[in-house]
Amino acid sequence: MSYDPPRPILVSSSAASDVVKRQVGALFNGVGAAQGREIQRVAVEESRLGIPVLLAADVIHGMRTVFPIPLGEAASFEPALAERTARATAVEATAAGLHWTFAPAVDIARDQRWGRGAEGAGEDTVLGCAFAEARVRGFQGPDLRAADSLLATPKHFAAYGAVAAGMDYNYVEISEGTLQDVHLPPFKAAFDAGALTVMTAFNDINGVPASANHALLTGLLRGHWDFPGLVVSDYTADMELIAHGYAEDERDATRRAFTAGMDMSMQSGFYAAHLPGLVESGEVPMALLDASVRRVLSLKAAIGLLDDPYRSLDPSREDDISRLEAHETLARDAGRRSIVLLKNESDVLPLRRDARIALVGPFARDRDNIEGCWTLFGDKSRYISLEEGFRAALPHAGSLEIVDGCGLESPLEGGIEAAVAAARRAEVVVLALGEPQRYSGEAQSRTRIVLPAAQQVLAEAVSATGTPVVVLLRNGRALALEGAVRDARAIVVTWFLGSQTGHAVADVVFGDYSPSGRLPVSFPHDSGQQPFFYNHPRTGRPETPEMSEFKARWREHPNTALYPFGHGLGYGRIEYGATTVDMAKLPVSDVLTVRATLRNHGTRAVEEVVQLYVHDRVASRVRPVRELKGFRKLMLQPGESQEVVFRLAPAQLAFTRADGTHGSEPGGFDVWIAPSAMAGVPARFELLPR
Ligand code: BGC
Repeated sequence: MSYDPPRPILVSSSAASDVVKRQVGALFNGVGAAQGREIQRVAVEESRLGIPVLLAADVIHGMRTVFPIPLGEAASFEPALAERTARATAVEATAAGLHWTFAPAVDIARDQRWGRGAEGAGEDTVLGCAFAEARVRGFQGPDLRAADSLLATPKHFAAYGAVAAGMDYNYVEISEGTLQDVHLPPFKAAFDAGALTVMTAFNDINGVPASANHALLTGLLRGHWDFPGLVVSDYTADMELIAHGYAEDERDATRRAFTAGMDMSMQSGFYAAHLPGLVESGEVPMALLDASVRRVLSLKAAIGLLDDPYRSLDPSREDDISRLEAHETLARDAGRRSIVLLKNESDVLPLRRDARIALVGPFARDRDNIEGCWTLFGDKSRYISLEEGFRAALPHAGSLEIVDGCGLESPLEGGIEAAVAAARRAEVVVLALGEPQRYSGEAQSRTRIVLPAAQQVLAEAVSATGTPVVVLLRNGRALALEGAVRDARAIVVTWFLGSQTGHAVADVVFGDYSPSGRLPVSFPHDSGQQPFFYNHPRTGRPETPEMSEFKARWREHPNTALYPFGHGLGYGRIEYGATTVDMAKLPVSDVLTVRATLRNHGTRAVEEVVQLYVHDRVASRVRPVRELKGFRKLMLQPGESQEVVFRLAPAQLAFTRADGTHGSEPGGFDVWIAPSAMAGVPARFELLPR
């Protein structure tokens, strides 16, 4: 296995000797079925207890075939799609000898400065739960003992997305209500879907590091939620208790992490070094160690490893599966379903195939920023750039001119001049701009979530030619769009779409696919609005159309989104009829039926993401202005009308009340069926007292 930095194994020297000498129970980030077999042989034949090891890696959004970054895929609003891509990922990863992936990340990201939002499903908890469940089901499949079942690990437990100021690894100060109602539910959803492991977070929560947090890892997880599975630390998170100032030294850190409920230590080597002494001295009760060991063994038993240590380690399967046509097709479909069309003035999109097109920008030919963050094993030789995708879609290569214009972060000599000249010759400019891929992912926090200056300069120059501009954004977070980029005729959010990027984007740009993605994160007017999320609590001084002085707003910008959560256009014209409810007064024992009729007035069949929102008008704690409660993607033919029906149960109106209990409160609610978090006119109902 290749166990080289930057992602070394648990103990970095030789894996096989670690298994024997240090009795390592799991190894990570090495791949290869044949190498895996050798590790297992050593574990079974040469280690003291003969117990096979778990082979793990970070396989986040694809293995050899790379699918869209999870945030991008969440924009599809299709959990079933995420289940399919996670399944395909598991098929490839298990063929490469893995049993266990450290995914899905189920952190809710309400601050776009935080780069790890790219790994999750965005700012909303209901969407986050749906994707968490789907990904767990996809990775693990229906049978944990099957050769292609990959253990899932929801992470990072907990509230990692709530780091102060969006700075990775920063502290977390959070209310109990926000922790319970916003950040914890996706973990519970992942466990309910069958996840048997969980990874602790690096951060503290109100002063207690998550990785030594007894209330979290034992009280909530094992006590309240009855979680039977294994808790693994994040990379050296037990060691970091010392830097946190929460533990004196290695031994103290080991004791605190272990007694809090962390079963397996990743990378630090602390458990191997200090647990024996701690148990001997009685500081760690033997019963606690036994319980932990039982959890590790139960996990190995659950996947059939104790019956067959070589389970799934089949080099011939590895060869067969290394390139599957079906996975390429899925990657292209997942890519185009993840694309969000923010704006399309005068229907500039889709482009005519015979138009004279200038494809301009540092991403036009780029092949190094296709996969997005956290892709360790992607087969780069199969990546499709924008240039390749456009050329494949265009019968007359002569109608396409390609110019870089600038580098990702710096100007190119003569770049602007060449771009402007090409723009003048073209009928339309497609400007491929965005964040380099290393701007998002772990440790990639930003203070200003804007495009690099050199790219903005290019956009201004090209747009000054007067040729209509379509902006293709590549991004791992919501961005604050400025100037010519914000004012372009059309704006398309393409995230990092993975292997099939060029084809997926071309499908949308040339109209072979009508975009159906919606924003899983709000695009603000300005970076300074962060943390910005649609479901923020109400203020006592909301801005109104009539009055904005002395109201909750910024001096420079309204405190709204430029493009809200849930927003996205297709190539149709969908009109929403009024939202109606079947009862004005809803008994707690009943379920409300909410309806609206949609009509496609356009000339193309389109998929629409219909969203159900509620707002609790008066409550014992200040409630969000709106909250997503359901969503559905449906296809509408030209001229077709469809009635959409959602069922809303009183349990969905529950929250952490002022007295700390969880439940709904009687009183008035607004309910919307709408195309985004800022659209629509609500209906009203009253939830009756018990
Ligand atoms: C990350 C985890 C990851 C682990 C192992 C850490 O730095 O926070 O998400 O699973 O490394 O690679």
